[in-house]
Formats: sequence, structure tokens, C-alpha cells
Amino acid sequence: MRIAISTGGGDAPGLNAVIRAAVLTAVNRGWEVIGVKRGFAGLLGEDEVIPLTRESVRGIGHLGGTILRASNRGNPFCYPRKQPDGSYVAVDRSDELMENAQRLGIEAVITIGGDGSLEIARQLCHKGMRVIGVPKTIDNDVSGTVTTFGFDTAVNTAIEAIDKLHTTAESHDRVIVMEVMGRDAGFIALHSGVAGTADVILLPEIPYDIGKVCEKILARDAAGRHFSIVVVAEGAYPKGGEVHLIGESLPGQAKRVGGVAELIAREIQAVTGKETRSLVLGHLQRGGMPTGYDRLLATRFGGAAVRAVADEKWGHMVALQTPHIVTVPIDDVLKEKKRVDVAHDLVQTAREIGISFGD
Ligand code: F6P
Repeated sequence: MRIAISTGGGDAPGLNAVIRAAVLTAVNRGWEVIGVKRGFAGLLGEDEVIPLTRESVRGIGHLGGTILRASNRGNPFCYPRKQPDGSYVAVDRSDELMENAQRLGIEAVITIGGDGSLEIARQLCHKGMRVIGVPKTIDNDVSGTVTTFGFDTAVNTAIEAIDKLHTTAESHDRVIVMEVMGRDAGFIALHSGVAGTADVILLPEIPYDIGKVCEKILARDAAGRHFSIVVVAEGAYPKGGEVHLIGESLPGQAKRVGGVAELIAREIQAVTGKETRSLVLGHLQRGGMPTGYDRLLATRFGGAAVRAVADEKWGHMVALQTPHIVTVPIDDVLKEKKRVDVAHDLVQTAREIGISFGD
């Protein structure tokens, strides 16, 4: 058996632990493993394919990033091609990819990625490729699995930042607005905000009213708490308003959002008169060593993905359905978008302990 592994989309802490577990599990069965570099670019002649052996995965389980590199602009069905005038057009290179995979004798592909990569996996599967998916994203917005690896690490990074902001915000009687990742789903903001004891948490799932945000800050001020911490997901937007987009996206690339913290900080300062600062935590959330939880989950996913290949579960994704790792059809996973459930007990408890969602 000769299998290939690819890591697509934005990276997430734990990718290397998946690769390591999958390679060791496969090699111990006497299989051969090929690594496709930079998403699927390695199968399109835009990057390489490399052999993955016991030696290539030695000592990588605790490392962030991915030894296979990643790309969020490599959708083979919608590949950006630069025109002489500098603009890009989308071209379908999926047939080329299928031919190259066949020429290399690849019998199955384990693709590790989020919604975007799983959609590519689904389409490749329909073209006849034998694919197993592994859910990855720090945003935790993949259906069918209780959680994705990378999320726990990102949440812990955000909590550490909130802890540090608390002490300086309190020293200066300031409001600090911290923006975390979460283009479509507010899981990082919700979990880090509650664990870090933020005063206001703003999510894409609950459009905010800046008046309510300011009410909360002023009520704290009146009660002698002269500082406040606001945690906002980058995809949060005001009631009746729109998400804040940045820059242009290439064909096949998801829209880029961000900068909402700065807008909110300016509005808070104008309404409350309190000195307000903002920061974007950004890619710090994607980098660094995975937590123990993420290493374990990633290792379990890697082993389970190879077992799914052995069981010929083509078109399935490995998933955590506590306490077990199961497989679920990628078609089903993509039917439903995973978002914060606004009736979830965590949201309810947050409200009951006094956290404002700006609504
Ligand atoms: O998809 C995960 C994510 O972390 C989003 O929350 C964020 O918008 C995006 O990646 C940013 O990715 P990049 O900066 O690599 O384009």
C-alpha cells in the first residue's frame, strides 16, 4: 500500500503529531508513505512530493507548524493563475492532480484540513480518489467532531494574553479590546474569554450593539472597576452591520476578515470617554507547540486515519465523538456549519456570571 499525506489551509498546532502518528502506524504495517508539500501543490508540479519514513518524523510530535508546509491558495478545482497584467483567474487543475497521483502510484490520500480542504477532499473523492479526511483548525468550526486539534492550543495562547492584559489594563484604568481568530465561528473568543474572565465577549454568532458594550463598561466603572477587557472574534459584526473585510482574496481563497477590535476600541473611547486600546493576537494563535491535549488528539486522529484507510472508509473523516474516535462521511460533515450554539450552557453561564455579549 502506498499512501500520501497532505496538509492544506492555514496551519494549526498538532499537524506534525498527526503526520508522525499516521506515518508510524502506516510504516509499521509495511506501507509506504509520501508527503505532498504545500497542500496539493506537490501534486501539481508547484512543489515536491517527499518520502515520509520513520526517520522523517523523528522528534516532530511536539513541534508547531507542519513539515509538509501548508497553503490556503491551492484549491485544485479553483487554482489561481497569474495573468500577464498581474490579475488572477481560476483554473481547474483537478484532472492534472488525479493523473499525477496515479503516476506516483498513490493508492489513498489522507488529507488534513478544515472545511475548505474537506470540500476539496469531497470533490476529489467524487472524481475517484480514495480519500480520508482529518479535521484541523484552530477555529474548531468543523462539524461531526467534538473538537479539532489546534483549538486547545489557540485557546491557551489567548488566555495567556488576556491574563497579561488584565494587569496592565488595571494599572492604567484602561479598556483593552483583544481580537482573536474566528472568521465564522466564535469558539476561541468564547472559550478564552470565559476562562480568562473577560468582561465582554463578542462573537460572529451574536451581532453586537456598541451601546450595550459601553453600558457594561460604564457599569463596571461605576462599581469601582475602572478597567475592562473585551475579547472579540475577528468575524464579529454590529447588529444590522457587516463583518470587517481586509484586502482582496485570490480565486479559491476564503475571504479575509479582521481589524474589528480597532473599530470597537475607537467607538468605546468615544462613548465612554475611557482610554481604550486594542490589539490583534493574530498568528500567535496558530504558532508554537501544541498543548498536551492537542498532541494526544492529533496522535489519535493520525492512527485512526490509517485504520480508516485499511478499512477502506473512502470519503470519511476521522472525528472525536467523546470518548471515541469514529469516522463520519465528509458529505455529512459539510452539510452543516459548526457555530457556537448561543443556547449552550457555556454561553448561559457566562451571562449568569456577568459577562456581556453586547446584545
Ligand atoms: O481558518 C483559520 C483561521 O485561523 C481563521 O480564523 C483566520 O481568519 C484565518 O485562519 C487567517 O488565515 P491566514 O492569515 O493564513 O490567511
